[in-house]
Amino acid sequence: KKIVILISGRGSNMEAIIRSLKAEDWPAEIAAVISNTEKAAGLATAENAGIATEVVSRGEFSSRQSYDTMLSEAIDRYAPDLVVLAGFMRILTAEFVRHYEGRIINIHPSLLPAFTGLHTHERAIEAGVRLHGATVHFVTPELDAGPIIAQAVVPVLPDDTEASLAARVLEQEHRLYPRVVRWFVEGKVRFDAGRVRLDDAIN
Ligand code: GRF
Repeated sequence: KKIVILISGRGSNMEAIIRSLKAEDWPAEIAAVISNTEKAAGLATAENAGIATEVVSRGEFSSRQSYDTMLSEAIDRYAPDLVVLAGFMRILTAEFVRHYEGRIINIHPSLLPAFTGLHTHERAIEAGVRLHGATVHFVTPELDAGPIIAQAVVPVLPDDTEASLAARVLEQEHRLYPRVVRWFVEGKVRFDAGRVRLDDAIN
């Protein structure tokens, strides 16, 4: 199976996936890592791992529509079976998302449906929730609202700051996301008429 990973920044989730794929020898290959900005630190990490990288930047005059067309052309040159959003900080058009229906996933740093959008850790602390975490879901046109594949839970501790809570969640993201990508490439998770179908073996 061929995977394309989209990033915008640090790329630590991407790195966790690269590492697990190599260590566990999945039936998959990361065909490319694509960023919307050349500033993404994760680009260098991918290059060092011998993976093709590309930057598709928005540019001054392109509309959201034309950007997404450029982006999907870049992605489709690699003919991926799966598109993995790993800290990709752009909202995608419905048209783009529909083009990858059932083969595009995202990780979001909260227990969805709580705390969609940005600043999730800060908002979790403010809300006083005792449990927080991360969610991997199929991407659908509505932001952070696609069907949930898997979640990881962490406690929110009395002394937590945004940074300490983010670090605790991130550690779980690095375990959760590779696991879900592996399920997908092994055919253990599928998108079926807007719902998630999981193999009995992983429940
Ligand atoms: C992660 O917390 C992810 O859940 C969120 O953005 C962050 C990306 O981190 N969508 P990294 O680039 O994978 O290190």
